Amino acid sequence: MLEKLEALYQQASQELDGVNTSEALKEWERAYIGRKGAVTLMLRQTGQLPPEQRADFGRRANEIKRLLTEAFAAREALIREQELARSMEEGQIDVTLPGRPVLTGGLHPATQTLREIYAIWAEMGFQVYRSRDVETDEVNFELLNIPPHHPARDMWDTFHTTMPGVILRTHTSPGQIHAMRDYGENGTLPIRVILPGMCYRYEQITARSEIQFNQVEGLAIGRNIRMTDLKGTIAEFARRMFGANRAVRFRASHFPFTEPSMEVDVQCILCGGEGCGVCKYTGWLEIMGCGMVHPVVLRNGGYDPTEWSGFAFGMGPERITMLKHGIEDIRYFWSNDLRFLEQF
Ligand code: DAH
Repeated sequence: MLEKLEALYQQASQELDGVNTSEALKEWERAYIGRKGAVTLMLRQTGQLPPEQRADFGRRANEIKRLLTEAFAAREALIREQELARSMEEGQIDVTLPGRPVLTGGLHPATQTLREIYAIWAEMGFQVYRSRDVETDEVNFELLNIPPHHPARDMWDTFHTTMPGVILRTHTSPGQIHAMRDYGENGTLPIRVILPGMCYRYEQITARSEIQFNQVEGLAIGRNIRMTDLKGTIAEFARRMFGANRAVRFRASHFPFTEPSMEVDVQCILCGGEGCGVCKYTGWLEIMGCGMVHPVVLRNGGYDPTEWSGFAFGMGPERITMLKHGIEDIRYFWSNDLRFLEQF
């Protein structure tokens, strides 16, 4: 029995020397000195030995258990140290590896076009004037010479709020009234502003129309502003925006808040006027509406139309961006698909 114990001790010690991982160490503990380990079990059998052998065997068995337990603790410390060193080594930064690319943000294509537009108008002396997105029906329509029964209201199906008469602006033109009253100090100061911002229309969303989109409105009020000022200024804007040699044309049109009213076309920026899918083979692209501010609107803004006159215009930056890049679907702008946005 004592021999068996010594052999077991030998075996356990040898095996322990070969243990190199904490998993293997746990295995070893279970096999030899754990609750059901071989050494433990043997120690428990002491009582079954003939009385004269018990004392010697018990002493030696206890001693072996203690030696193995100490050896186990020493091994455990060693392995922990080795494993720490290994993990430090593995976790080391390899400075020769290429770095992870840092994603840089970018400006939304609509924002890029807006900024281009601001810069051009700024050079011509137009300040950015911010007007509200939430408007009253009165300012959005009535003060712009669009009375409740006016057929032009059909063009702007509107988002209403729970407050009667409060709506989301359907165009940036109501900003003209605020600019005249506030910025122009009720008809006492000349004005040169652009009014950019989001507009909202309750429409079916299609490739050509969204329920929200930007517009940039422009307003110039002064004492001798004439149609020639309007045409010259718009033509200059178009040249700066679309290229120096781009032809511009004005077509008679109608808006309730301008008289006379015009629509502005530029020679197609993709085909140069030869005719293509984007200009629908006309050679021209419509870029904005404009006109001389209607006397009723001037009066609603606090200006005396016998002394003051002015021009106004309105354009859609998304539409301009679409024309410039041949984008066929306006829904890309607000669907936040990075595959689209990252192209700009
Ligand atoms: N408000 C018009 C629209 O939403 C655009 C417009 C046309 C603005 C002519 C103007 C203008 O200032 O003179 O369709």
